Amino acid sequence: MSDRVYVFDTTLRDGEQSPGVRLSMPEKLEIGRTLVDMGVDIIEAGFPISSPGDFEAVSTLARELKGVQICGLTRAREKDIDVAGDALKGAENPRIHTGLGVSDNHLQHKLKMTREQALEVGVAAVRHAKKYTDNIEYFMEDSGRADRDYVYTVVEAVINAGATTINVPDTTGYTYPEEYRALIAGIKENVPNSDKAILSCHCHNDLGMATANTLAGVLGGARQVEVTVNGIGERAGNTALEEVVMAFVIRSDYFRVETRIDSQQLLAVSKMVSRLTGMMVQRNKAVVGANAYAHSSGIHQDGVLKDRSTYEIIAPELVGAEKSEIILTARSGRHGLKHRLAEMGFNFTEERFEELYARFLEVADTKSEVGDDDLRVLVSA
Ligand code: KIV
Ligand code: ZN
Repeated sequence: MSDRVYVFDTTLRDGEQSPGVRLSMPEKLEIGRTLVDMGVDIIEAGFPISSPGDFEAVSTLARELKGVQICGLTRAREKDIDVAGDALKGAENPRIHTGLGVSDNHLQHKLKMTREQALEVGVAAVRHAKKYTDNIEYFMEDSGRADRDYVYTVVEAVINAGATTINVPDTTGYTYPEEYRALIAGIKENVPNSDKAILSCHCHNDLGMATANTLAGVLGGARQVEVTVNGIGERAGNTALEEVVMAFVIRSDYFRVETRIDSQQLLAVSKMVSRLTGMMVQRNKAVVGANAYAHSSGIHQDGVLKDRSTYEIIAPELVGAEKSEIILTARSGRHGLKHRLAEMGFNFTEERFEELYARFLEVADTKSEVGDDDLRVLVSA
């Protein structure tokens, strides 16, 4: 089994489905270029039949971006696939991403098909997509809630028809990590031709488990992860690219896999996507949140100032952040205050420092953060 994990970024497709997000063509191109530069392997640029804007996005990125696979989403319908094939014409390595639901819920309520009918439609879609490319990804929507034996049957049939990547979406964010790992591992164990395709994790975050499920899927044998920058996407979003990449970096002892992503670009890309989509990144967001490398309590500050590893598992430089921050608050201790004053060029006798510390605590009790301007006022009084 290869230890390389392919990063499939769907910020421009599933991510753009976030309520309230609409990216212009130049913005999509800017994001696309940045993703290529950062080392993403596959960019899902849109759903070409869904709108002229999506068609244009897929065809422009297909023409403009090199060194990356460009993917267009389709339903399992000939017309969708023809339109995607057309949009992908200029791509160096075009991928068609087609498929349909596999859970009984989707079959009954949405598709109004029997399992057998849906299987036939799916196989026909893959065969049709082969007119345009050999790089075909098949998605089994709502795999997380589907009957396992039916999933195995679908995987075997669509691989025989020509699919080279099998996407196993937990569309509704329903599974928990052990289950999702078993789903992937089960496909590998029970589908005789599963070694002919790469299995892909596509997890939604409805229960806050998208990243955990994706990582579990990789442990189960998946070698592609479908992610978005900042985890944006339908409802509660998708798996966050930056979280998965950094889990592989920081816990390489455990996962033993690699991506091509240059982690030092993660923070800049997160900021860019946040700016262009208008989707704010929560301060405490893992890896790229404003507080991710900030320490506020005295106990933590004392530890970090003695040795960063006491409270920081990610060195900020690894994601392109400048440095850890010591935030002075009412919970900060002497060590934090002394450190900041020294950084500002102030050094005091112990006696004078004790006076300042007492006054600092009074000020800190009146506000959430004591900034450099406050400190200047304190020392000049
Ligand atoms: O969540 C999902 O199932 C999807 C598919 C269209 C791949 O986004
Ligand atoms: Zn999705």
